[in-house]
Amino acid sequence: MKYKRHLITAALPYANGGIHIGHLAGVYIPADIYARYLRGRGEDVVWVCGSDEHGVPITIKARNEGTTPQAIVDRYHEVIKRSFEGLGMSFDIYSRTTSPTHAETAGEFFRTLYDRGEFIESTSQQYFDPEAGIFLADRYITGTCPKCGAPGAYGDQCEKCGSSLAATELIAPTSAVSGATPVLRETKHWYLPLDKHEAFLREWILDGHKEWKSNVYGQCKSWLDGGLQPRAVSRDLDWGIPVPVDGAEGKVLYVWFDAPIGYISATRELLPDRWEDYWKSPDTRMVHFIGKDNIVFHCIMFPAMLKAHGGGYILPDNVPANEFLNLEGDKISTSRGWAVWLDEYLVDFPGKQDILRYVLCANAPETKDNDFTWRDFQARANNELVAVLGNFVNRALVLTGKYYNGKVPAAGPLTDYDRDTLAELPKLRAAIEGHIESFRFREALKDAMEIARLGNKYLADSEPWKVVKTDPTRVETVMNIALQITANLAVAIEPFMPFTAAKITRMLGTNTLGWSSLGRPDLLPAGHTVTNAPELLFEKIEDAAIEAQIAKLEATKAARAAAVTSVTSEVEPQKAEPQKPEISFDEFSKMDIRIGTILEAEAVPKTKKLLKFRIDTGIDIRTIVSGIAEHFTPAELVGRQVQILANLAPREIKGVTSHGMILMTEQPDGKIVLLTPTEKVPNGQTVN
Ligand code: MF3
Ligand code: ZN
Repeated sequence: MKYKRHLITAALPYANGGIHIGHLAGVYIPADIYARYLRGRGEDVVWVCGSDEHGVPITIKARNEGTTPQAIVDRYHEVIKRSFEGLGMSFDIYSRTTSPTHAETAGEFFRTLYDRGEFIESTSQQYFDPEAGIFLADRYITGTCPKCGAPGAYGDQCEKCGSSLAATELIAPTSAVSGATPVLRETKHWYLPLDKHEAFLREWILDGHKEWKSNVYGQCKSWLDGGLQPRAVSRDLDWGIPVPVDGAEGKVLYVWFDAPIGYISATRELLPDRWEDYWKSPDTRMVHFIGKDNIVFHCIMFPAMLKAHGGGYILPDNVPANEFLNLEGDKISTSRGWAVWLDEYLVDFPGKQDILRYVLCANAPETKDNDFTWRDFQARANNELVAVLGNFVNRALVLTGKYYNGKVPAAGPLTDYDRDTLAELPKLRAAIEGHIESFRFREALKDAMEIARLGNKYLADSEPWKVVKTDPTRVETVMNIALQITANLAVAIEPFMPFTAAKITRMLGTNTLGWSSLGRPDLLPAGHTVTNAPELLFEKIEDAAIEAQIAKLEATKAARAAAVTSVTSEVEPQKAEPQKPEISFDEFSKMDIRIGTILEAEAVPKTKKLLKFRIDTGIDIRTIVSGIAEHFTPAELVGRQVQILANLAPREIKGVTSHGMILMTEQPDGKIVLLTPTEKVPNGQTVN
C-alpha cells in the first residue's frame, strides 16, 4: 500500500434517535470491517465517529418534549454509544459535537474562512415565527402549494407534485412549530460560494476519481452539471456553535458546516499532538463511510470547505456511500415506527451480535436498495452460520478432542487432494483482500465463508470418522489440515464477525494469529493443545423468536399510527396547537381526572352522535354522555377503561344529565382516540 496511514470516518449519527439496521448496513458495519481489516494487516489506522448533536430537529424534539436540546442529545448520545459498543464497533474514538474541543475547532475553522474572505455576507427576508420567537427552517413551514394547489406543502418542497419551492412561495404559510402565521424578517447570513470551487471539484472528482462507486460518482456529476450555488453556513437558532464574528448574536453555524468538522475535532481529542499527521499529510488516506443522502455534503461541500481553509487539509481518497436498506419490503421510517433498533436487538438477542453483523453485511445495499426480512435473518443464521460455519468448527474440534484428547496431530505425507485444498486458502485470502479494498464487503464475506465450506467439504470427502478404523495415521493428517483450516477461518472472519473469531481463537488456544497468517497451512504446530470441550458457535434461531419480532414491528407501527399526538414520537414536523396560557399547579390540581370502566353504552334516542354511558368511577356508578357515536359501536366500548374528568359541572344534553366527561383526542383525519391506560389499573385511580 502506498499510504502510511489511514483515516476512516463514519457519518456522525444525529443524537435524536437510536441506531437502526439501515444505519448499520449502510455505514457502520462496512466501516468497521474495513478498519478491522486494515488493523489486522498492521496498518496505521485511526477510525473516528461521534454524535451529531446540533440542528433544528433536535430543538423541535426538545420543544415537543418540554425539555432542553442538551437533555435530548445527552440521552441519545448514551444510547447510541452503548449500542455501538455492544455490537463491537471498533472506533478509536466516539465523540460528540457538543464537546468543547469541537466548539473550538469548528469556531476556528469558520473564523479562518471568514478572515480569508471565503464567505459572502448577505441579508435576506426569512420567515419568523412570532409566537415561538424563532426563524423557521423551510421544513417547518407548511402551506398550499403554488404549483398544484395541494395543502400541506413544505417550505422547500411539495410532496404532492414534487416541485421544489421557496418558503416565500407558499400560499397561506403556517409555522409547524406553533401553528402561527409566520412573518418575513430581515436577517444576515454567511454563504460559502460553492460555485467558486466548481472547476476544482470537477477536476478533482470527475477527472481524478473515476474509480469511485458509480452511485457516488453519478450523484457528484449531476450536482456539478446542474451548477453549484452559494450555500448558507449560518442559521438563526439558539442551539449550535455561535458564529464567531462581531454582529452575529443569535446566529449559529449551520449543522452541515459543523458536523463534518466533527471528524477533525474527534481526531484532535484522540491525538492532541499528532492529529495533523492524519489530516494534513499526503501520506494519509482518508475514506468517508456514509449513506447516499450524505453524498453532496461529503463530496462537494466538505471538500470545498477543506480547500477554502488553505491549511493543507487532505481530501477524501474515496467515499464509498451505500444505498438504503428497506425492512420487510417497506422503507425504514422512524416516525412510522418501522425499524429494527440496535439497542433493542442487543436485548432481544443477547450474545448474537455476529448474526446481525453477518446478515447485514451479506445483505448490504452496496449497489442498490436492499431488503431486510426476519425470515431471511433466520434462514441465513440457520443455514449458513449454524449449518456451515458453526458445524465445521464444531466437527473439527470435537473429533480432535475425541481422537487426540485435544492435541493437534502431526501431518504425514499429503495427498494431491490435501494439497489442492490447502492451496485454496491463499487464493481465498487474495479474493477477500481484493473485495475489501474495493469496498465490496458482501463478496468479501462470501469468500471468507468459502473457507468454512472448504473445510466441510474436506471433512465430508475425507470421512475421518470411517477411516479412523482402518487407517488411523491418515486421520492424523486429515485432522491436522481441518484444524489449519479452522485457524485460517478465525483470521478471515475477524473483520466481519469479531466475537465469533475470538471464540474460535480461544478454543484453538492461540491468540497470535494476525491477517498475515491467513493462507498458511501451518498455523497450529503439532502437539499444540486445543480445547477438549468445544462450545457451539451459533444456536439456531427458532420460529418463535422471528414471529415475536414481526409482531413487535407491527405493534410499534400500529402504536405510532395511533399516537400522532404523542410528543415523543415526532421526528418530522407536525402541526400542533399552540400552547395555552400558563396555569398554576393549584389550578391543575382542581381537575379530578381519574380512571373509570365503561359498564354500559347505548345510543341516545333521536341523536346521531351521542352515546350514553354508565361508568364505574371507583367512587360511584354514574351517567356520562359523549358525542362519539359515529366513531364507536356501544359493544366495542363496554369493558374499556377510560380517563374521565369527574368534577366537571353536570350538564343537560338532549334530555340526559351528564356527570363528567370522557377524555379523548383526535387523529388529523378526524378519527377519535380514547386515552385508555396501557395496562389495567383500579377504577378511581387519579391521573396527574
Ligand atoms: N448526522 C448526519 C446524518 O445522519 C450525518 C452527518 S455526517 C457529518 O445524516 F459529516 F456531517 F458528520
Ligand atoms: Zn404541489
